[in-house]
Amino acid sequence: MLINILCIGDVVGKAGRNVLAEHLKPLIESKNIDFVVCNAENAAGGSGLTPTIYEKIINYGVDVVTLGDHCYRKSDIFPVLDSSDRLVRPANLPKSSAGRGSTILPTKSGNAQVAVTCVLGQVNMGNSNSPWEAVDTFLAQIPSDVISIIDMHAEVTSEKIGMGWYCNSRASIVFGTHTHVPTADCEVLDGGTAFISDVGMTGPYDSVLGRRKDRVLKFMSTGMPQKFDMADGSPRMYALLTTVDTITKKATACELIRVDGTKPHDGAYDNDDYTRTRHHNNKRR
Ligand SMILES: [Fe+2]
Ligand SMILES: [Fe+2]
Repeated sequence: MLINILCIGDVVGKAGRNVLAEHLKPLIESKNIDFVVCNAENAAGGSGLTPTIYEKIINYGVDVVTLGDHCYRKSDIFPVLDSSDRLVRPANLPKSSAGRGSTILPTKSGNAQVAVTCVLGQVNMGNSNSPWEAVDTFLAQIPSDVISIIDMHAEVTSEKIGMGWYCNSRASIVFGTHTHVPTADCEVLDGGTAFISDVGMTGPYDSVLGRRKDRVLKFMSTGMPQKFDMADGSPRMYALLTTVDTITKKATACELIRVDGTKPHDGAYDNDDYTRTRHHNNKRR
């Protein structure tokens, strides 16, 4: 049996959440999607996740939420990280860190089980344990009849492509996140693993990686610290749509999906942004 799985790139702020709210359920219906994974490390005000926004994203149709280097930015998510089996933080953090590094859940139709993990890259990403050992552990623990999905949250394409080949024939899907720019390299590798270096953000593209252009350009051109407020123009969802054979667990086809949203307005039903006051002056996404 063939099923369709959607892997959505970093949801950034209100603009990204509104695209999900508007378009995810119709997309699930029209593309007959049986399981949805969504990276939401930037969903709350552009950095981190809150319990309320996590619940909203699940209600929009997401089965498993993955995170990245911003997983602990909002401390009120810590209890949910420990209690929910639909929220996954990077697996290559220390064992004592809050939350779980993987989960296994049934698809919406109940026709398959899906295991999901995410890992942090090690190049220009700060300290973490080996993502290679983390995916080996993840894949070794999965029962043979379970489909496997890996969110490779990393800065450089070489490391992401390396992870795709490292998991080729062992994982069903390896999708890259974190850099917020969709890449044109999605394909099913020769071992049956669907791969893309980065699915791109689900957020405002009239921006610099989700932040207001004027603020970022002022910082870039002068070096003066700026408040990197969220942008809201040209919201889009980008996601990898993969068809997987439930018997072989191999991907048979994949494509990058783009869905354009509408700019959120003051009366938007999801107006639950999480405001911060500190100045940003680094390039972490
Ligand atoms: Fe991100
Ligand atoms: Fe990130």
